[in-house]
Amino acid sequence: MTPAQLAAIHAASFTQPRPWSADEFVALLASERTRLLTSENGFALIQTAGPEAELLTIAVHPNARRTGQGRDLLARALTAAQKAKCEDIFLEVVDDNTPAIALYRDAGFRERAIRKDYYNGANGKKSSALVMHKSL
Ligand SMILES: CC(C)(COP(=O)(O)OP(=O)(O)OC[C@H]1O[C@@H](n2cnc3c(N)ncnc32)[C@H](O)[C@@H]1OP(=O)(O)O)[C@@H](O)C(=O)NCCC(=O)NCCS
Repeated sequence: MTPAQLAAIHAASFTQPRPWSADEFVALLASERTRLLTSENGFALIQTAGPEAELLTIAVHPNARRTGQGRDLLARALTAAQKAKCEDIFLEVVDDNTPAIALYRDAGFRERAIRKDYYNGANGKKSSALVMHKSL
């Protein structure tokens, strides 16, 4: 999947946090600490730092949701983090993102903290972030 395709799926999936540009994906993928998992219509990106991994983002194109791609991408991201010898994985999610929170809870993630008014929306509206964790 090209950086432009990643950016297109990201733009179709996010307003908050804001979509990432193709150039931002190029910069992220240049790091040896990031790993990209792709499916037909989606992708997940993790970053490792010693024994900790972070799910930076996961997105499936709106036309292809609820077909199991998100679950499969997340499972493969967890395997990639384990292979990188990570012991814990964290993520941040907007606290009203019901589909993503359901996916993460189903995969064994649990809420660790709430960051109040963490995200700044385009319209000035602030949203809180849930920090979720899973032991690997
Ligand atoms: C979150 C996301 C990646 C899920 O991808 P998906 O391919 O649709 O997910 P799957 O089909 O694999 O579904 C896996 C599970 O996630 C949960 N889920 C997915 N969509 C859901 C929805 N609309 N409502 C409730 N639960 C949902 C369910 O538990 C589902 O299991 P089930 O189908 O057996 O009920 C997708 O909705 C997306 O790209 N959202 C926009 C980007 C985003 O918010 N990413 C997360 C940011 S932290």
